[in-house]
Amino acid sequence: MQLRLLLTTNGADDRYAVESSAGSARSWKADVIGAWRRSSRPTHRFRDKLDVIVYFNGQFAPKDDVKVSPDDRGFLFGDGAYEVIRSYGGRLFKAKEHFERLQRSLKALRIDGASVERLSDIARDLIQRNDLGTTDAALYIQITRGAAPRNHAFPDGQTPPTVYVAITPFQPSHQKWERGIKIILVPDRRWTRCDIKAVALLPNVMASQQAKECGAAEAVFVRDGVITEGSHTNFCAVFEGQLVTHPRTHHILAGVTRGVVLELCEKLGIPYQESVIHQERLREASELMILGTTTEIMPVVQVDGWQVGDGKPGPVTVRLQRAFAELVNA
Ligand SMILES: Cc1ncc(COP(=O)(O)O)c(C=O)c1O
Repeated sequence: MQLRLLLTTNGADDRYAVESSAGSARSWKADVIGAWRRSSRPTHRFRDKLDVIVYFNGQFAPKDDVKVSPDDRGFLFGDGAYEVIRSYGGRLFKAKEHFERLQRSLKALRIDGASVERLSDIARDLIQRNDLGTTDAALYIQITRGAAPRNHAFPDGQTPPTVYVAITPFQPSHQKWERGIKIILVPDRRWTRCDIKAVALLPNVMASQQAKECGAAEAVFVRDGVITEGSHTNFCAVFEGQLVTHPRTHHILAGVTRGVVLELCEKLGIPYQESVIHQERLREASELMILGTTTEIMPVVQVDGWQVGDGKPGPVTVRLQRAFAELVNA
């Protein structure tokens, strides 16, 4: 007999319903099953996809049981917004800032009806259900305009958005943070609303693949001779001790990590400026770095084959990395 495990959230009365293929269902209190899951879980079991619990449209369920409609506008048009949040030892880092940005993205895309306020409870629940309370993990949230017959214009107001949240263990890149990485520069062929964290990421995907094929870790975009940001990171350069990063315009995503780094500069007395970096000045920089939620503060030691400074992470980068590590572990 085939069993299907459905996990629903009803506040305090949180139940797991086990449904047989014949349709009969019975429920157990979550804490009983929860205790079973914890006691019988070998440490590596998360890797078994059947075992991973995700949140999808109001329910917690094994990832393999999630059925996304082929009519979903996220699938058809990339019509949605997303967020990625790091959890350090079970604690979400800068969750408020990520949720605020998600609200801004949804507002800009005019996607209504998703309860962003519920997401932090869902995230905490997922951390617990997947036994990631003491591990480093990355939370992924995606909200699309929902499923409706294919039509470019929005469906009617009755179409509920699709909400998906998943968490996976995160493997920190210690070696790369210590040694630095290579990047390539590529033309910025994206639209002009890069401030929206939209699911549609084709130019970013193409650029990232190009970097991979060149043996580089990131592709950094250049628009009209100006360095904007990476395919999934923000970009900073250090000129004569001053950190410079692209201003918060529609040409970049206002990264949460970028915000944290600017706060750290303020705290540590590192001079900084939000102004454009011209590609032709890049070789004058003593240090370069890319920033992101999973990338953290990553030194860049090579650009298109030429070496940055002495080819090692510079002093400003290292100071920021240390302060960042203190912050996330505080
Ligand atoms: C295009 C782009 N820029 C910048 C970032 C960095 O933003 P955050 O620090 O909030 O992760 C990301 C992260 O995914 C990104 O996709």
